Amino acid sequence: MTTKKWWKEAVAYQVYPRSFNDSNNDGIGDLNGLIAKLDYLVDLGIDIIWLSPMYKSPNDDNGYDISDYFDIMDEFGTMAEFDALLEAVHNKGMRLILDLVVNHTSDEHPWFIESRSSKTNAKRDWYIWQDPQPDGSEPNNWESIFNGSTWEYDQKTEQYYFHLFSKKQPDLNWENPEVRQAVISMMNWWFDKGIDGFRVDAITHIKKSFDKGNLPTTNQQKFAPAFDAAMNQPGIHTWLQEVKEGSLDHYDIMTVGEANGVSPADAHLWVGENEGKFDMIFQFEHLGLWQTGESSFDVLAYKNVLATWQKRLENNGWNALFIENHDQPRRVSTWGDDQQFWYESATSHAIVYFLQQGTPFIYQGQEIGMTNYPFEHIETFNDVAVINEYNIVKAQGGDTEALLHKHKMENRDNGRTPMQWNTDKHAGFSTAEPWFPVNPNYKDINVAQQLEDPDSILNFYKDLIKVKKSDDVFTYGQFDLVDENNSQVFAYTRKLNDITYLIVGNLTDKNAQLSLDNNSNKPQTILHNYDGDIDLQNLRPFEAAVIKL
Ligand code: GLC
Ligand code: CA
Repeated sequence: MTTKKWWKEAVAYQVYPRSFNDSNNDGIGDLNGLIAKLDYLVDLGIDIIWLSPMYKSPNDDNGYDISDYFDIMDEFGTMAEFDALLEAVHNKGMRLILDLVVNHTSDEHPWFIESRSSKTNAKRDWYIWQDPQPDGSEPNNWESIFNGSTWEYDQKTEQYYFHLFSKKQPDLNWENPEVRQAVISMMNWWFDKGIDGFRVDAITHIKKSFDKGNLPTTNQQKFAPAFDAAMNQPGIHTWLQEVKEGSLDHYDIMTVGEANGVSPADAHLWVGENEGKFDMIFQFEHLGLWQTGESSFDVLAYKNVLATWQKRLENNGWNALFIENHDQPRRVSTWGDDQQFWYESATSHAIVYFLQQGTPFIYQGQEIGMTNYPFEHIETFNDVAVINEYNIVKAQGGDTEALLHKHKMENRDNGRTPMQWNTDKHAGFSTAEPWFPVNPNYKDINVAQQLEDPDSILNFYKDLIKVKKSDDVFTYGQFDLVDENNSQVFAYTRKLNDITYLIVGNLTDKNAQLSLDNNSNKPQTILHNYDGDIDLQNLRPFEAAVIKL
């Protein structure tokens, strides 16, 4: 059995502060707004809050472009308010983890301002600078994750700097030991303040293999996605080990790395009990299974990915369980059905991911079944990734309508609309016009109404969390798929000593059947998203349950 840890027994909740709750009515969520809602999170059953970046930032990428790691964004509040938040979270028996964004800083960070000031500046090598090619063009053809080149030309010093994300997010040069040391001391500064851990942003990208040169392009595109040379590259673990020894090992904290590109095969290096650098990672493999235009969610592929992670980390590592975050669309709209089976699909997906082995994360609004936003034209988007791509396609005379259509369901803004608290104007998020519009469906989908309704998605989540905490089997028990080739139903057992639970969820809008060798003579339904008895031979659309065998 794996070692016991507080973070293995916890339920986490992600707050995107800009959109959570606005305390001073300027239309932007803030730290005091979060303080005001802590009791809501306690009532829900939350143990850990992951707060997306609240540091000083010019907000090119909503705080993921940090200009001062030791200060708070003006719109969000002050350091004194942050301290009050941390204290309040602790007083209420919860923990607070922050976002650690160290693949890059803002171009307005003093380190970068110095770095770009001259070729001989002491911080020149803190970022990645290269000469133009003889014809003046970019040093290579790598494409930014936010579209366009990864290189931005700097007139003053006549070199290009590298940015994997937006051009206002220059990448730090981790090859430089001074950079690694600066990151480590910053982390320790926050740990000494008393925070309980970090979600580590974009961490698989810190190492780049520039020796790979130009990468192959498709369809005569000018730039090639840089993943093969800038994600999970050889040598990265030496640096992560340095961070672990210089910081993480000295505190009783938890870490969850954002780990695009990490597969089960090398997971032990990331989260293994001996070789791992982090406690958990957010892997990405289950996120790419749904594409606009495809008729349905691929249940088999989903099961296969998650079960592989479960088995791979069994007794050696720990999973972070999640289906939504601030970079993903709303799952009830994409994987589920936000019309006819809104309640059923939100709760079925909830049961299925939540009770696997790992620490479950809920993204704000997921617990009330918030849906995608009805985007219409480019002005309704805020996401820098969409806007960049739109401008590029437009400049090339391409089909911008097709592009917007593609992004409607998948873009990151879907998850960033203001939290829907009640039926007041702007959903109770603010009395002022919010920085991003509230989803027009807030009169039907909001916290106040769901708190009152015993059959709401919110109350289902509360019950689900209670179930998860009712027995160690849901934390430490072994996971095994049931009827693994079933293409509609995701079912598995959790077993610890002589206790076995069956978790079952039909993830389609059609009736389905589960085949199960059930030796139990008295199965007991603990949680169920339909009225009446469950018939495993005839599961209704998105029917889901937790059954004690
Ligand atoms: C991560 C964050 C995302 C951000 C990016 C750059 O993927 O989750 O929101 O834009 O890193 O920091
Ligand atoms: Ca505010």
